[in-house]
Amino acid sequence: MSAIIAPSLLSANFLRLEEEITMVNQSDADWLHLDVMDGVFVPNISLGFPMIQQLSQIIAKPLDVHLMIVEPQKFIPFFQELGVKSLGVHYEACTHLQRVVTTIKEAGMNACVALNPHTPVELLTDILEDIDMVLIMSVNPGFGGQEFIPRTQDKIRRLKEMIVARGLKTLIEVDGGVNLERGKLLVETGADVLVAGNFVFNADNPLELIRRMKQEI
Ligand code: DX5
Ligand code: ZN
Repeated sequence: MSAIIAPSLLSANFLRLEEEITMVNQSDADWLHLDVMDGVFVPNISLGFPMIQQLSQIIAKPLDVHLMIVEPQKFIPFFQELGVKSLGVHYEACTHLQRVVTTIKEAGMNACVALNPHTPVELLTDILEDIDMVLIMSVNPGFGGQEFIPRTQDKIRRLKEMIVARGLKTLIEVDGGVNLERGKLLVETGADVLVAGNFVFNADNPLELIRRMKQEI
């Protein structure tokens, strides 16, 4: 089975957002990854809610939202209203993670928990059963186009072992510094979903590149 490919809109040309989204709609990509930042949890701000609301109307792919914000529970109804498929919150941003995850699922979305590069996967031991997907950050969150942090590979391996040992269907998503070659290694290690921003949107032919990611990984 090929990996689920989720281009990250963060690296798109924001002056041509409609064209960029049309490209993703027409591509072989499975999901569209949307990064939401608040300038507090991460040192950057990406898209505001009025913008996301309008963009969502022209996005044909299932939306995979990655919240890099504090108090993400406040905004669950907004993303529910948009019909988001998967809503991701950071482990490091949630004091009451189990409650947040439950609320996301009760709102009809898949619950994803994201881990910063320094956060061990073992911290999910007592909540893994409740999560649909774990997002392993392979860069420090906040910016596209950063270098992949190699130690991430071992986190994926350990998380996969935990998932398999318990017979769970939890997906592993990897986000940051992913390209074709690295994507292959990550999937061999246990990744199910690959997010790619810079690699896709700064390519000469993004459509072709997404097609290759689907075929070759
Ligand atoms: C970074 C974001 C990523 C980012 C990945 O904080 O979560 O989704 O867009 O970009 P690349 O693929 O360029 O590392
Ligand atoms: Zn992301």
